[in-house]
Amino acid sequence: MTDTTTQKGDQMTDAPLLTDRATRLPAGSPDPAEDRSASTGLSVHGLRKTLGGRDVVAGIDLDVAPGELVSLLGPSGCGKTTTLRMVAGFLTADAGVVTMGDRDVTTLGPERRPSAMVFQNYALWPHMTVAQNVAFPLRTRRVPKAQTAERVRAALELVGLTHHATSKPTAISGGEQQRVALARAVVQEPDVLLLDEPLSNLDAKLRVGVRDEIRRIQQRLGITTVIVTHDQDEALSISDRIAVMHDGRIEQIATPAALYARPATLFVAGFIGSASTVAGRFLTGTPATVGADDTVLVRPEQVTLCEDSPLRATVARVLARGHFAEVVLAADDAELRAYVTGPPPAVGSETGVRLGEVLVYRDGLLAEVVR
Ligand SMILES: Nc1ncnc2c1ncn2[C@@H]1O[C@H](COP(=O)(O)OP(=O)(O)OP(=O)(O)O)[C@@H](O)[C@H]1O
Ligand SMILES: [Mg+2]
Repeated sequence: MTDTTTQKGDQMTDAPLLTDRATRLPAGSPDPAEDRSASTGLSVHGLRKTLGGRDVVAGIDLDVAPGELVSLLGPSGCGKTTTLRMVAGFLTADAGVVTMGDRDVTTLGPERRPSAMVFQNYALWPHMTVAQNVAFPLRTRRVPKAQTAERVRAALELVGLTHHATSKPTAISGGEQQRVALARAVVQEPDVLLLDEPLSNLDAKLRVGVRDEIRRIQQRLGITTVIVTHDQDEALSISDRIAVMHDGRIEQIATPAALYARPATLFVAGFIGSASTVAGRFLTGTPATVGADDTVLVRPEQVTLCEDSPLRATVARVLARGHFAEVVLAADDAELRAYVTGPPPAVGSETGVRLGEVLVYRDGLLAEVVR
């Protein structure tokens, strides 16, 4: 490996973490100063992988703009980790091209890519202390000792683990190990940050805290980031765009708002936000050309209770949600949900229901928006 160390780094003793991009030292880059910029985007085209006779990744195209955060969201086994490992260089693709900035990195090993990855299973070295684990990627890149110490200190502070610097990974909790893995990635100050379920083992409060912290760092430094998750709330709250994966493919990629408002397929609709699906005949009497075999998607916020509506329903359940109630309504054999602020209706009572905007799906694809 080329020694990319420069003396510049030695002056960084009291600099905050990840602010001085000029001192960043990617492996395999003979001239860091020339190659450093906050404008490294990521491009993936035609990425494929067959494992155990199955097309686990079946042709992924993904463009992540410089400084953008894109989530890969999808159910277990849909190929998220496999995709990320190929982007990071830990797994060789059967086909496809991966570009970071203007460099084709498809055939480069992970240490020669300007990226860092946090693994789903942490992959910490058990014989090293927490601080040594975080320092490891800097040691392999021969970053000067003083700079390494400062960057490790700052990274551990970032994830709230300063007090565990000298602990072994086996002596800390799963959530703490996960944060060590995160520190080990951000300490490298990568152009492209690849995170595989980095929050899955944190408790609810810590999860939101670390999530917001990842977003804050990522935005401040403009690090191009791909984060794998199967948690829609996580994806919706930190992403510039979300790519919904299904069976080795990206089914839709869009902003959180667009994905929620106009899910292109029933699969995406079922994965993002809360919604009821009812048969097409439910909408008879509307001006739309809705067929009996169509599926109509109704979001709870598009359902209002009003006595004078001809569409009748029975209140089946009332779920307390804090500042509002979620009212479950039975209408024929369909179930609808509505959010009600103020006193909810009594269970068993009959009520009129009015629908706002609903989405009509034909053969699984969004066909019409009906208001
Ligand atoms: N080495 C392998 N040999 C055979 N099949 C594999 C191998 N690695 C992964 N798979 C299969 O490929 C599919 C996708 O795996 P992958 O780990 O990418 O899923 P994932 O989307 O990350 O799921 P999760 O949310 O559970 O982490 C799974 O069905 C998995 O069993
Ligand atoms: Mg996975």
